[in-house]
Amino acid sequence: TRDIVIAPSILAANFARLGEEVAAIDAAGADWIHCDVMDGHFVPNISFGADVIKAVRPFTTKTFDVHLMIAPVDAYLEGFAKAGADIITIHAEAGPHLDSSLQAIRALGKKAGVSLCPSTPEGTIEYVLDRLDLVLVMTVNPGFGGQAFLECQIPKIRRIRAMIGDRPIRLQVDGGITCHNAAAVVEAGADTLVAGSALFGGNIAAEYATNIAGLRMA
Ligand code: DX5
Ligand code: ZN
Repeated sequence: TRDIVIAPSILAANFARLGEEVAAIDAAGADWIHCDVMDGHFVPNISFGADVIKAVRPFTTKTFDVHLMIAPVDAYLEGFAKAGADIITIHAEAGPHLDSSLQAIRALGKKAGVSLCPSTPEGTIEYVLDRLDLVLVMTVNPGFGGQAFLECQIPKIRRIRAMIGDRPIRLQVDGGITCHNAAAVVEAGADTLVAGSALFGGNIAAEYATNIAGLRMA
């Protein structure tokens, strides 16, 4: 059995007190902190950028897992590396040269991830597998938290697990993850679960530990 990483998405946190929210979700048992960066261009929503990540970085020592929904992304990689990202995930659909963007992330000393939108086939990453530390299968269309999980991504998770073989690559799922579908995505091969609304719920910090434990139990 693989070790499961739970990465709460701070997109669902209270932005007015983001530092405290990060500290609270860390104390509640988060393994990583998932940061959703949206540019209003690649996705139809704007969230936050490198300066916000830099500002909240001192509130935890946990891994900062930065999911960049930005196109074109190359000009921003260094800024997110300097802001304190540990893992930088870019979208396969976002740039003209995925291979070179992934090389740039590793050249900055960071772990490199690639994210696939629901309509993007897994073959897209076949020739970059050796440049990857993480593959993110989007189980909603990127842009918003709180959307319904797309069941049709389960076979893709299964196929990517087979493609990964014995490479040390984490297989992450993101979008609509709850205690009702966690077992199914893990059974298909996911080992890293992002969840926003299911964990941050009504932004009541006293409930975060119960929410994380519930997802882990599931
Ligand atoms: C969607 C983001 C997700 C999302 C997760 O574009 O990448 O990380 O915020 O939120 P929930 O768990 O609410 O779907
Ligand atoms: Zn995300």
